[in-house]
Amino acid sequence: MRRVGMLTSGGDCQALNAAMRGVVKCLFYSGEQVEIYGFYDGYRGLIYGNYTMLTSRDFSGILTKGGTILGTSRTPFKTIKDPDPNGLDKVEAMKANYKRLNLDCLVILGGNGTHKTANLLREEGLNIITLPKTIDNDLYGTDMTFGFQSAVDVATNAIDLIHTTASSHGRIFIVEIMGHKVGWLALNAGMAGGADIILIPEIPYDINSVIGAIQKREERGSKFTILAVAEGACSKEFAAMSKKEQKEAIKNSRYPSVSYDIADKIIAATGIETRVTVPGHMQRGGSPCPYDRVFASRLGSEAGNLILQGEYGFMVGIKNREIVRVPLEEVAGRLKSIDPDASIIKEARMLGISFGDE
Ligand code: F6P
Repeated sequence: MRRVGMLTSGGDCQALNAAMRGVVKCLFYSGEQVEIYGFYDGYRGLIYGNYTMLTSRDFSGILTKGGTILGTSRTPFKTIKDPDPNGLDKVEAMKANYKRLNLDCLVILGGNGTHKTANLLREEGLNIITLPKTIDNDLYGTDMTFGFQSAVDVATNAIDLIHTTASSHGRIFIVEIMGHKVGWLALNAGMAGGADIILIPEIPYDINSVIGAIQKREERGSKFTILAVAEGACSKEFAAMSKKEQKEAIKNSRYPSVSYDIADKIIAATGIETRVTVPGHMQRGGSPCPYDRVFASRLGSEAGNLILQGEYGFMVGIKNREIVRVPLEEVAGRLKSIDPDASIIKEARMLGISFGDE
């Protein structure tokens, strides 16, 4: 009998259910006796022993379902070692619940923060397997995370919709794209949606270059301009500040996000009507795209295979289109950002896309 715990942690995304279904299908089809324990709302469920026993039927019909059947929450790594308001040691509580249920392993689906805690639990002696989820695609050790391609679809659709109204009105539109500290989503959705200017954290912008790129388009007769701006995009001045100064600047800013700041500066310099659209959490919502359904199923299947082999301490990821296992200690605490010299950036520039740095 194998006893497997499972939880989804951090911001949700598409294909979490597809990935869990993949794990469970692989285990049940192996013919082995398996018990699945699903912890509710991420690490919180593991800390407070809030779980349910699941059968294969619970995983039926969820391949296409968005969100997570287990629920999720953010349990920040930086406070994981602090006692909870009632003085409970959270790490010890997680270990105790794992041991009480006599689990063989825990499958954890999550992004960057989740992986830090997963690695901590591994160091504490638990058998851990993780799956890389996040629309941000910023997890080290895997070429892709599931949820990303679905979010690219949503964000691209938003840019497509904006295109028609931007062209009717001859306006400038900024579509602010999620992605946390990296620009994978903005870059891919921006290129897919035909954005004229793409601003990403990895290439700090100069506002005069951004304005210059808009003016050049005007001179060439283009009546509108679309900017895909990553939520983490920053100016050269901001990038040159210390972390402390950056925090202060954000605290004192009168804008809800970077896009509104950029919009104001564009209006001041060009006088052209400029609007900001923020698709926000819609980018994490809805049904996973076909790519993510296949990808998450493959990852889940390999996670099931690792459990059957008793191989623990790995994230299952993808490299050069092949599913691979990556030691958790190599993944935890490392960010995968875009190399500004990557060929995709050069190709985008050759298509006339401005990154606001020329
Ligand atoms: O990490 C996924 C993500 O959607 C980021 O792109 C975004 O910055 C963040 O989560 C939003 O977090 P929350 O759902 O807690 O508002």
